[in-house]
Amino acid sequence: MQRTENEYYIQRLRVTDIARQFGTPVYVYDADHILGQIARFREGFSTVNLQIKYACKALTNINIMKLMLSQGLGLDTVSLSEVRMGLAAGFVPQQIVFTPNCVGIEELIEAVELGVKINIENLSNLEKFAQRYGSQVPVCIRLNPHIATQQNADKVNWWHNQSKFGISMDQLAQVKAIETTYNLPINGIHIHSSSVIMTPEVFLQGAQTVFDIALGFQNLEFIDFGGGIKVDVGDGQEVIDVVELGQKLDPVFQQFCQKYGHTLELWFEPGRFLVGNSGTLLTECKVCKRNGGTDFVGVDSGFNHLIRPMMYDAYHQIVNVSNPQGTQKKYTVVGNVCEIDNLGKDRMLAEVREGDLIALKSAGAYGYSMASTYNSRFRPAEVLVLNGEAKLIRKRDTYEDLMRNQVDLPTVDFAKV
Ligand code: LLP
Repeated sequence: MQRTENEYYIQRLRVTDIARQFGTPVYVYDADHILGQIARFREGFSTVNLQIKYACKALTNINIMKLMLSQGLGLDTVSLSEVRMGLAAGFVPQQIVFTPNCVGIEELIEAVELGVKINIENLSNLEKFAQRYGSQVPVCIRLNPHIATQQNADKVNWWHNQSKFGISMDQLAQVKAIETTYNLPINGIHIHSSSVIMTPEVFLQGAQTVFDIALGFQNLEFIDFGGGIKVDVGDGQEVIDVVELGQKLDPVFQQFCQKYGHTLELWFEPGRFLVGNSGTLLTECKVCKRNGGTDFVGVDSGFNHLIRPMMYDAYHQIVNVSNPQGTQKKYTVVGNVCEIDNLGKDRMLAEVREGDLIALKSAGAYGYSMASTYNSRFRPAEVLVLNGEAKLIRKRDTYEDLMRNQVDLPTVDFAKV
């Protein structure tokens, strides 16, 4: 979303027009922003065999998947439904990697049957998988590199050795034993850290750890660094410049490949980096009220649509699209869910009137994909702005959607229970 003096735009469309056309609340994504992020990533890693696997859990819409496919990206998936959506979007199985966490072996078997690449993150499944497939199906292993990546981000910080993710470093001997016993081809090593990596140094530290381990495996085709690249959300925190990351990581990776004996692919699985800042949640102010000295702006949305502020204390910039020139005032922006439901506390916004369009920025990643129908409110519509045109890519829920899977017991007389 860009701003001129008097107006907010997504590409060349006025945001107020988009809201008028599709109603609020609505998630709007800017395809140009996504294309720009892909280009920037590739610019950073221009000298290695880079494979970008879009982590579609961030924004799980088939049109977004198709956009990624059109740009030559692969797909990182964490459930069989994501795999199926990827296949429906047109990815060939070999472009898709299945990276689930704490699932039963039956899911891995189904994924093998669908032909996608497999990533295993615990010894139990690794052994069951090896017993079943022996040398027939290669697997990537996910390691937990025991690195504390970031402060104050416990809910999204997973490299440390107490997290549930990955195979622990002290279990490498068991991995080797499984590999040898069953002749299992381990074709990749994967680490995914947290979702908030702010400096290239953290990646470099992870890289060094992984490269040392990788030298002990003979059948590797790729190293996968996962996702986790933080983007600028306007909270004043440090963010990684992906070009700088590439410039620092490329030479280290090339050195490693030389030592290893041949060139491997370098994989990343970005979600937030690609789509985070492409998305805006457009809402309407329904109520302005003052309680206990605080001016509240009550919008027609809430943590049922964007859970990140309540769940992670995440910061989303909020602007009053309808009154760009208005006097700045301090507000707490809240949703209509019957709980605290803060979307932004003590924010400076141009003066808000009931009926104004209030936009929450950086809502492309983990916005709609974490939305719920709590309070029996409908999840928003989704719109993609592509080549200057706004296109509906998901309808708003309806009352029928809320009732669809409920089983009304017609033969039970509840008066008699
Ligand atoms: N690869 C794996 C194995 C992952 O688990 C994830 C995210 C990614 C890649 C993509 O990470 P990204 O590039 O988007 O940081 N709901 C939280 C974030 C959870 C991330 C889950 N895993 C949030 O709203 O901040």
